[in-house]
Amino acid sequence: MTRPKASRARLRPFRVRDAADLCRIYPMFFVDNAVHFGGGQLTVADVGGCAVGFVLWGPAFEPAWFDRGVTRWAELNELHVHPDFQNRGIGLRLVRAAIGQARAAGFPVMYLMVEADNGKARRVYERAGFREHNRIARYKVDLQKKSQTPRLAETRARRSAAL
Ligand SMILES: CC(C)(COP(=O)(O)OP(=O)(O)OC[C@H]1O[C@@H](n2cnc3c(N)ncnc32)[C@H](O)[C@@H]1OP(=O)(O)O)[C@@H](O)C(=O)NCCC(=O)NCCS
Repeated sequence: MTRPKASRARLRPFRVRDAADLCRIYPMFFVDNAVHFGGGQLTVADVGGCAVGFVLWGPAFEPAWFDRGVTRWAELNELHVHPDFQNRGIGLRLVRAAIGQARAAGFPVMYLMVEADNGKARRVYERAGFREHNRIARYKVDLQKKSQTPRLAETRARRSAAL
């Protein structure tokens, strides 16, 4: 099988007329990122005047509670490439662009979060130089089932039996 050619997409800043293209890739992008959009930097991959991918990063609003001593940091908030344009190196170029922009803006460090099973995105991030820093566990309780926590009486009975 021949490897598809690397894309010649041109990376450039977002323009308002790209909004419809971005919504075709990620319909809730502007809703989900309203809080990040103002201070962030949005770069698109342009093919023939259409935005086929984008990366959004920006300054974080809080100290890095997961990395003591870090007070100023950038966060990569979003990375998306339209399925028809994936596997041509656009994702990697966008991540590298975001890293370069954050460095040029004087940020000492950039973080991002990604689902553990999103292997494709993780490989792109790692190729760009990111390394896993810490893991966050997702917990769940099924609220339709009867309480899964021991009842108070059971707990007391267990305690008194142990005395
Ligand atoms: C994650 C995502 C942005 C990657 O974008 P992409 O443009 O496909 O990324 P790249 O092309 O740089 O790399 C993807 C693969 O293509 C390969 N590739 C790069 N250039 C290539 C080329 N010219 N020919 C063939 N393959 C190529 C890479 O080696 C990589 O392979 P791997 O998956 O085996 O590691 C894209 O899959 C996406 O939008 N996913 C949905 C949204 C998402 O998960 N975002 C991340 C949330 S944190």
